[in-house]
Amino acid sequence: MTISVDDRRPDELEDQSPPWWRQAVVYQVYPRSFADANGDGLGDIPGVVARADYLAELGVDAVWLSPFYPSELADGGYDVADYRDVDPRLGTLDDFDDMVGALHARGIRVVVDIVPNHTSDRHAWFQEALEAGRGSAARERYIFREGKGPQGAEPPTDWVSVFGGPAWERVADGQWYLHNFATEQPDLNWDHPEVRADFVRTLRFWSDRGVDGFRIDVAHMLTKDLTEPLPSRAELDALPFDGKHPLIDRDDVHEIYAEWRKVFNEYDPPRTAVAEAWVDPSRVPLYAHPESLGQAFNFDLLQSDFDAGQFRQVVSDNLDLAAASGSSSTWVLSNHDVVRHATRYGLPPLGEQQRGRDGIKQGAEWLRSGGAEPALDREGGLRRARAATLFVLGLPGSAYLYQGEELGLHEVAEIPASERQDPTFFRTAGEEIGRDGCRVPLPWTAEGPAFGFGVGAPHIPQPGWFAESAVDVEEADAGSTLSLYRHALELRHTLQTGETLEWIETGRPDVLHFRRPNGWEVVTNFGAEQYPLPAGDVELSSSPLGDAVIPAETTVWLVRPGE
Ligand code: NOJ
Repeated sequence: MTISVDDRRPDELEDQSPPWWRQAVVYQVYPRSFADANGDGLGDIPGVVARADYLAELGVDAVWLSPFYPSELADGGYDVADYRDVDPRLGTLDDFDDMVGALHARGIRVVVDIVPNHTSDRHAWFQEALEAGRGSAARERYIFREGKGPQGAEPPTDWVSVFGGPAWERVADGQWYLHNFATEQPDLNWDHPEVRADFVRTLRFWSDRGVDGFRIDVAHMLTKDLTEPLPSRAELDALPFDGKHPLIDRDDVHEIYAEWRKVFNEYDPPRTAVAEAWVDPSRVPLYAHPESLGQAFNFDLLQSDFDAGQFRQVVSDNLDLAAASGSSSTWVLSNHDVVRHATRYGLPPLGEQQRGRDGIKQGAEWLRSGGAEPALDREGGLRRARAATLFVLGLPGSAYLYQGEELGLHEVAEIPASERQDPTFFRTAGEEIGRDGCRVPLPWTAEGPAFGFGVGAPHIPQPGWFAESAVDVEEADAGSTLSLYRHALELRHTLQTGETLEWIETGRPDVLHFRRPNGWEVVTNFGAEQYPLPAGDVELSSSPLGDAVIPAETTVWLVRPGE
């Protein structure tokens, strides 16, 4: 039977609209640095509740919280000691429920971070494994092996951790355990049924509390083939990433996500998930597939210069990949792991040689010099960041924003070694400065203790220049980056349309122009020369426009009359 639109009840009509996450603006909260309600210098869950109106005014569709679980903070909370609780320094489960209520009441969905590759070494399971000793059932939940050489004093392999240094650590009785990240983050054994069952329990635990979705940390590393003899580092490095690599992006990881998908679909609406999967682009659709996690991060813009050619390639490739999986694309310019995009675009471009995965290290030299060299073009970086943001917010798919980017914040380079927290800093003896510079507590007010973050000394020191970018300063300024984001998100809600775009050729290699199905057009001049303003009503621009021209490094949103 066919029914006409008029016959359908409102709830049935709602069923016809695309799921909320397909073109959402998701705002990442790094809880310990967002807002501190109890004055201990650490941001907390009541701090998020206190700023719920701010998030609503900003106009985001969802908030993704980085881990807020009990943790010794060996890796900013990505070392989880208990997956089904709130760190007492950040609040209680009741506070969490209040936060979900406060955000839902404002139409904002809640996404939480799940960290399944490793636990904290303080997790009850790991403590039990240490006590129970070699050969015990408790050690089976992790990856323990005997060492090599006399008395097994050498690690089982020469593998290195993602954060630098060896990937194996020896325990008191002489066995070694695998940790692909910090020493305090032992890798779990995903062949173990209890591990699998426990994460399903965790997903249900948060889903039952009203959580709308999950961000899956290092989704591509859970399953491993550790058949003896283990390969050396050189042998590992020579292997292709074809689904059979012993450690990375194995095909069998999708058995886990197929099971999780069934759990997500038990809920109404189904819970969503987004994969953090650093894999070959051809394999991203496996994670983004509707029978797997449903969406995957695309980090290509984190590794691109502010360059029209690179941006167009990234957009075209990722729209194709999204189409191949049936998912929608995602766009990320900043997050808690990379140098803020205002700063990246204020430093010399990466150039052909350094692009790719290493692009994420952009700013490393500048950070090492404490922000001295190469010189940062603060103003230019911010102008380019605003243009890039408006470009991205006009694209089909979901945009993931990172707290503080709406203030146009720059990376903080001037953090003394004694105040640094990132394990990469310590594991590379300071060679890599790490990610603390984008995790500095937010400035809410130009005056007052900790720039309004809280009354206690902030857990990472804030620089004096944060005052200029404080929320209260930017709220009072119609030309501020905060005003631009608010305006853009409000307009995006009214302009949002089908998940496609059509490129319009500009005749200039440094200018991109695309049109969405309803006539919403986005033009970005990446170059230094002005570009004639195309016909249409100007809805928004990232910098003031000239007389019928788009100035250098500026994005404009247009709507064609009559469309
Ligand atoms: C990716 C997270 O984004 C990062 O912050 C963390 O250090 C690693 N995974 C390890 O959990």
